[in-house]
Amino acid sequence: MRILVVGGGGREHAIVHSLSRSGGVHKIFVAPGNAGIRETASIVPVRADDIENLVRFARTEQIDLTIVGPEQPLVLGIADRFEQEGLAIMGPSAAAARLEGSKAFAKAFMQRHDIPTARHRTFGAGDYDEAVAHVRACGAPIVVKASGLAAGKGAVVCATVEEALETLAFMLRERAFGAAGQEVVIEEYMTGEEASVFALSDGKEYVLFAPAQDHKRIGEGDVGPNTGGMGAYAPVPIVTDDMLDVVCNRVVAPTLHGMAAEGYPYRGVLYCGLMITEEGPKVVEYNCRFGDPEAQAVLPLLADDVPDLFEATARGALSGSVLSMRSGAAACVVLASGGYPGRYETGFPIEGLEQAAAHRDVMVFHAGTAPGQQDSGRSETVTSGGRVLGVTGLGRDLREALDRAYEAVGHISFEHMQFRRDIGKKGLRPS
Ligand code: AMP
Ligand code: GLY
Repeated sequence: MRILVVGGGGREHAIVHSLSRSGGVHKIFVAPGNAGIRETASIVPVRADDIENLVRFARTEQIDLTIVGPEQPLVLGIADRFEQEGLAIMGPSAAAARLEGSKAFAKAFMQRHDIPTARHRTFGAGDYDEAVAHVRACGAPIVVKASGLAAGKGAVVCATVEEALETLAFMLRERAFGAAGQEVVIEEYMTGEEASVFALSDGKEYVLFAPAQDHKRIGEGDVGPNTGGMGAYAPVPIVTDDMLDVVCNRVVAPTLHGMAAEGYPYRGVLYCGLMITEEGPKVVEYNCRFGDPEAQAVLPLLADDVPDLFEATARGALSGSVLSMRSGAAACVVLASGGYPGRYETGFPIEGLEQAAAHRDVMVFHAGTAPGQQDSGRSETVTSGGRVLGVTGLGRDLREALDRAYEAVGHISFEHMQFRRDIGKKGLRPS
């Protein structure tokens, strides 16, 4: 098969890695990729949201299957355009991707289908005074979210009414998130532990991956600002088999049925971000793609032939598929640039990549990396983003997976590198 992967982060490196593990002979292209991906796939210099050029490339290069990593092209309708051209693609239509692209849509959808989630109200730019009154009436803590895509920065958990009012003004008045924040969702604060459940659906049937847990805050002990994710592990002990049954019956199945019934069958990866509350699992958010860095933990655990699985998804032929997972656990530690998720510098040479990757059951996934100068006599790879690398360890259990990941991390260095030393700690707690 000739396969095109769209995107250029750690998630896409993990997708490419899982495709290249397959027994079949495949040619893999990635647009735009990064310095690590270029070792296993051919780089296509087209941006992930440049849909027309991606269509052109897929037609010219006779691509059999396209797999989309990030949300932006999906929300912009890449799947619709490929399907118009008769090109197979794994990812939801723009209408189905609204589950991520519009929190207002997602919340109203959950209400229509009785899917457990935080109580909420949606306000438009013209409803500012009403939104203020609503916040005052509810009190704090309370959560204020920009409805549209905001690169993971659009959800603000507010500890005080003042903070919520400032956030409202920031979004609705100052238009800090542009159009994405012209509609806001104000919702009840939920407490519990978070987990991510990924379903792969062809629009009719679905299969589940191992549940994962992300680490959103920058600081150890879950403090500081939210990031795209500083590490992940899978499976997650709090998501027991019984809990997973509840998640399937109350969340995954009703979501997929509801989308089909409303005329937007969901084809692709459905990410259910959950809060495991005392009343049971509730949806924090949906995403229309694999999580990043969750994919770097979940995909290496897959024992199946990934190209066949993704092709069956794209062609609506998942019926009868059962995912087989390797036993054991996976843990991914993200190495980020100093200053991230705020301002950071890039262009620093990365040392120790080969030593880290030489470890048994370790994968070094590249995120924000670029090829450096060949003649510098130093490292050939430099930092180019906030999240730079994701180092995944596999083990018989979470402890072993974490030990392997951190041992490999010990080889890697770049100027101002930061990472969390407590990834997976919650999963090690006796239940
Ligand atoms: P979101 O962008 O909706 O996934 O939110 C980002 C993060 O904010 C989540 O992973 C949670 O940690 C937190 N969060 C969002 N909504 C809520 C809520 N209703 N209650 C508590 N925490 C929340
Ligand atoms: N790690 C969170 C996300 O991918 O949205």
